[in-house]
Amino acid sequence: MKDDYIINEAVILAELKNLNILMPVKYYDCIASTNDKAKENFNETNEHCLTVAGRQSNGKGRNGRSFASNFGGAYFTMTFALNSDNYESQMFGSILTAGIAVYRVLRSYGIETLLKWPNDVLYGNKKLCGILSEVVYDGTTPDYMLVGIGINVNTSKFDGYEDVAISMKQIKDKDFSVAEIIAKVTRKFFECITDTQFDCINEFKEHSCTIGRTVLVKQLHNEYYAVAKDINSKGFLIVQTPDGLEHTVNYGDVTVKEVLN
Ligand code: BTN
Repeated sequence: MKDDYIINEAVILAELKNLNILMPVKYYDCIASTNDKAKENFNETNEHCLTVAGRQSNGKGRNGRSFASNFGGAYFTMTFALNSDNYESQMFGSILTAGIAVYRVLRSYGIETLLKWPNDVLYGNKKLCGILSEVVYDGTTPDYMLVGIGINVNTSKFDGYEDVAISMKQIKDKDFSVAEIIAKVTRKFFECITDTQFDCINEFKEHSCTIGRTVLVKQLHNEYYAVAKDINSKGFLIVQTPDGLEHTVNYGDVTVKEVLN
């Protein structure tokens, strides 16, 4: 097997160490979902760690969708405690920051991507990376956060999503080290969220392909077209409907489907 494809706990720990990060890692060749496993890991150990899989048999996407997770991709979940004083801004900030971390790392490999609100990373019109953030509550209080990232690194099989997905290997016609990419994104994510000067909203807007586009906002019992105008200080999307009214779109209950225009 080529070195780029070798992935296990020791290889990931070594890549993290190269970047001066020490953090527990749990690696699995195949599990249903790293987000679900990360919750189990935290429940068992009460310790935040990086949960990584070689492939996932039931990779979860946003809004109940699945995420094709064949061998060759990077599938990992970071967990971290939410600070009860400012958990709201931490929650929303970390969702956008995850996309920015991936954006910056892919750029360092010469791949220029676009961020689709709230947290898809696109190459052209195709998905190169999906991110699923979840908040875990202790009773009614937000306790910790999971940020699950799936990057199509060396994959070419997307289980029926071939028309809408793309991998780094398909873009650059070469293999990349999955373990190195996981370590770099993890490092970049924690570097950004701990940097008090980091301006996640403006950086997200700068690389976003959503602002200025017509979007379809899909809520549970309602759907409408609107133009994406801005992202507010909480990270929510501000859209304007044809009647001129502005609406604030939250992440949780909405699917924003972009319409080409
Ligand atoms: C989406 O595109 O809707 C989000 C996809 C998120 C996929 C990642 S892969 C690692 C983590 N574990 C999961 O089950 N999902 C996320």
